[in-house]
Amino acid sequence: MTNSVQHFLTLDDLSPDTLQGLIDRAVELKALTKQGAIYQPLKNKTLAMIFSKSSTRTRVSFEVGMRQLGGGAINLNPNDTQIGRGEPIEDTARVVSSMVDGIMIRTDAHSKIETFAANSSVPVINGLTDDYHPCQLLADIQTFQELRGNIKGATFAWVGDGNNVCHSFMNAARLFDFQLNIATPKGFEPALEISDKNRSHISITNESDAAVENADVVVTDTWASMGQEDEKNQRKVAFADFCVDDALMSKANNDAIFLHCLPAYRGMEVTASVIDGPQSAVFQEAENRLHAQKALLELLLG
Ligand code: CP
Ligand code: NVA
Repeated sequence: MTNSVQHFLTLDDLSPDTLQGLIDRAVELKALTKQGAIYQPLKNKTLAMIFSKSSTRTRVSFEVGMRQLGGGAINLNPNDTQIGRGEPIEDTARVVSSMVDGIMIRTDAHSKIETFAANSSVPVINGLTDDYHPCQLLADIQTFQELRGNIKGATFAWVGDGNNVCHSFMNAARLFDFQLNIATPKGFEPALEISDKNRSHISITNESDAAVENADVVVTDTWASMGQEDEKNQRKVAFADFCVDDALMSKANNDAIFLHCLPAYRGMEVTASVIDGPQSAVFQEAENRLHAQKALLELLLG
């Protein structure tokens, strides 16, 4: 079944203009919230949330976001629903979407969320898959805009695993028109298909020093994503030279910002001195998940 519902499975589901409009709206909604204004365009609307993996930020930001916009969110834990007992994704999508106004999903294979969306009569939002984390990028771009203004032409450095967040960063580089220099250990580069699509705005190296040169922002993420727990020890060895520490930060621009989607593992992908230091904007970034996703919910469910 195909449909014309506006989903948000990757950043490419929205045009560059719409994406920039979302970021500007997120900044406005943040200011309204800080003023204590009541703004409830989603009264009586419900977001269903399906988490097949753990979450703190995504769960709290969507639930609170829906509440602040006048609606509500329900959490469907796969283990307490028929999803965990093997009900087909297609059937679940048809049933749940007949009762709610939007569905946020965090799962493993990206193909699962695509199947779900193809069978949903309401917008489906990607709250992270093995391949992408587009909601994270809305918050990250908002954070850069708040701290530095226009992102066009800025230089970002990604240091670490070529993972789901890295993939969404690569799409963001093309759609928001900034340069992304990626450094990963050999064998942990991002997916070739996503690299090819974004060639005009990315570079890939196995040297972290080279990637951070002239960077306005240095970003990293955990060395072992959810689902890769068995590889933790092996990855610790492979990524040993990819810790964002003070020495690496000193090779970026003097006023470079440090970002991390969190959760972070101090002493592994980043030192405490960097993530808890003056260049870090990680807690502003985490809070912006709420504001950016409120803008997204307003757009898709409003
Ligand atoms: N950054 C992020 O998505 O955090 P959670 O896993 O806590 O949702
Ligand atoms: N790359 C991480 C991001 C967590 C928000 C993971 O997939 O576990």
